[in-house]
Amino acid sequence: MRLAHITDLHVEHTPRVGELVGKRLFGAVNLYLLGRSHHFSCDVQAALPAAVLATRPDRIVCTGDLTATATDAEFAAAKALLAPLLSVPFDCIAGNHDVYTAESLGRYGRYFGPDLAGGALRVPAGPVDLVLFDVCEPAWLSRGRATPSGLTALDAALASSGPCILCLHYPLRGRGGEPYGPPTRALSNAAAVEEIIAQHPNVVAVLHGHEHHGYTTQLPAVAGRPGVSIYNPGSSGYAFMPKKHRTAHFNVYDVEPTGIVAVERYAWTGTSFEPEPGGAYATGG
Ligand SMILES: [Fe+2]
Ligand SMILES: [Fe+2]
Repeated sequence: MRLAHITDLHVEHTPRVGELVGKRLFGAVNLYLLGRSHHFSCDVQAALPAAVLATRPDRIVCTGDLTATATDAEFAAAKALLAPLLSVPFDCIAGNHDVYTAESLGRYGRYFGPDLAGGALRVPAGPVDLVLFDVCEPAWLSRGRATPSGLTALDAALASSGPCILCLHYPLRGRGGEPYGPPTRALSNAAAVEEIIAQHPNVVAVLHGHEHHGYTTQLPAVAGRPGVSIYNPGSSGYAFMPKKHRTAHFNVYDVEPTGIVAVERYAWTGTSFEPEPGGAYATGG
């Protein structure tokens, strides 16, 4: 199976005055007055669906942050943008920006569903299952948290799966294999998630987003089982800023029951998405 992986598009739409409440007011200042909106590119986002489909994936997964501040306008724009990808099976989870405020809860599910609401879902996907796990909730900082019921649901989903790939928004590990940080923007109980993964040797890989410069690393080997490969393509909507070593990426994996056996990583060159020179992750993040 060829599985394409996109993440962190961050489709933006300037909020209406009436929507500038709570964290969204703070976020709008960050985006539009302090310039974070320039981190993402409408042109790159528009080019992404055709580029992904050109790699002939059997299936596509998106690991969240479709929007910037989770308004209706942003979800509608993201849904329209990604509509061509629905010609193949498409699975998605929310990112922290898709549950930006308490007011926005439920909106992700209405546009992209199902809304896992902190839970886990097993999706049969040919040679493996995908286990989608939601760890995002409204928070003033950018932290995620697996709830107690969510951890129970993850354990049950993994127990009912054959070989499976776990998909969540937050990293478990940083690019050097260390626990991911800083705590202000991390999954606060990543260790609890890892403890559950350690009990399920059928987890053959982990996919995530959130960190906009991509990387691949591993969960350490535990109790006689080998390390588990982790992949983050990096933001698929990033603006082209070569002096900052910043551009958009997406991945395509060849998946067998044993796991991900080959990785293609595509990078935006300023005019098109092309295979990363030297192979996946050869140029860094
Ligand atoms: Fe993001
Ligand atoms: Fe995120």
